[in-house]
Amino acid sequence: MNLREYQQQVDVELDRLVPPEATPPETIHRAMRYSLFAGGKRIRPILCLEGARAVADGTPGVVAAACSLELIHTYSLIHDDLPALDNDDYRRGKLTNHKVFGDAMAILAGDALLTLAFQVLAQLDLPADRKVRLVEELANAAGTVGGMIGGQVADLEGEGKPPDAALLETIHRAKTGALLRASLRMGALCAGADAAQFDALSCYGEHIGLAFQIVDDILDVEESSEHLGKTAGKDAQQHKITFPAVYGLEASRRMAEEEIARAHQVLAAFGTRAAGLHELADLIVRRKS
Ligand code: IPE
Ligand code: IPE
Ligand code: MG
Ligand code: MG
Ligand code: MG
Repeated sequence: MNLREYQQQVDVELDRLVPPEATPPETIHRAMRYSLFAGGKRIRPILCLEGARAVADGTPGVVAAACSLELIHTYSLIHDDLPALDNDDYRRGKLTNHKVFGDAMAILAGDALLTLAFQVLAQLDLPADRKVRLVEELANAAGTVGGMIGGQVADLEGEGKPPDAALLETIHRAKTGALLRASLRMGALCAGADAAQFDALSCYGEHIGLAFQIVDDILDVEESSEHLGKTAGKDAQQHKITFPAVYGLEASRRMAEEEIARAHQVLAAFGTRAAGLHELADLIVRRKS
C-alpha cells in the first residue's frame, strides 16, 4: 500500500468535489479549502478505500464516498477548534480556520463541509438503495446517538469531571471511533460486501477506532506542538477525560496495542486482500502525529 499515492488520489477527488475559490461567495470556498488542504493524513478515506479493496477490486464511486468522510472529519476539526469548544490556535500545522477567517466564517465553513458530504453521496452513480445506506451510515456516525456529535458533547461536559473509565470509553468510541468504523462500513457497502464481510470490517473499524483516539491522547502528552501541527498538552490543561488521565501512559499504550491485535485477528478471512488494512492498523498505533 502506497500511502502517498492514496493521499494524492483523495486530494484530487476532493479538489473536484469542492467548489473552486473563485466561485461566489468566494470567502466560504476559500475557508473550506483552507482547512481541507492543510495536510491531513486522510486516514478515514484511505480506510474506506482499503475496506472496499478487501472485498473487491475497482469499486465504482468509492473514491467520492471516501471523500465524504474527510469532509465530515474536516468540519468536525474546524468546529472542535473553535473558542467555544477546544479553543485551539493551530491545526494541521497552520493557524486554525477561525484564526484566519473569524468565528462566523469558520462555523459556516464547517456547516458547508457537512452539507457537501451528503450532497456528494446523493450524487454518486450508484443504485438508490445503496446510496441511502451510505447516507444512513455517515449520518449515524456523525450524529448524536453514539456518533461524533454525541461524543463531542460528552467530551465537553466531561471537562473537569473525575476520571471515569466507562465514560472515557463512551466518549472515545463516539467522538472518534464512530466515524472511523463508518469508513470501513461505507467501503464495504460500496464494494457490495456480504453480511460476514461487512461485520468483520465493522469490527476491525471499531478496534482501530478506539486505538486511534487512545493514541491521539498519548501523543497530546508526549509530542511537541511543532511535531503534531496542533497544540500539545491541551488535554491536561483543559482537564479532559483521556486514556493517559485515567490509566497512565504505559497502560494506555498497552490498551491501544490490544485493540490493534484484535483488529488484525478479525481480518483473517480476507487473506491477502486485507494486506493494506493490516498495514493501516500498525500505522495507527505507531504513528507519531
Ligand atoms: C484528529 O484526527 C482528531 C481526532 C479525531 C483524533 P486526525 O489525527 O486524523 O487528524 P488529521 O486529519 O490527520 O489532521
Ligand atoms: C477530536 O478530539 C474529535 C473530533 C470529533 C474532532 P480531540 O479534541 O482530541 O482532537 P484534537 O486533539 O483537537 O485533534
Ligand atoms: Mg475536542
Ligand atoms: Mg481538540
Ligand atoms: Mg486530541
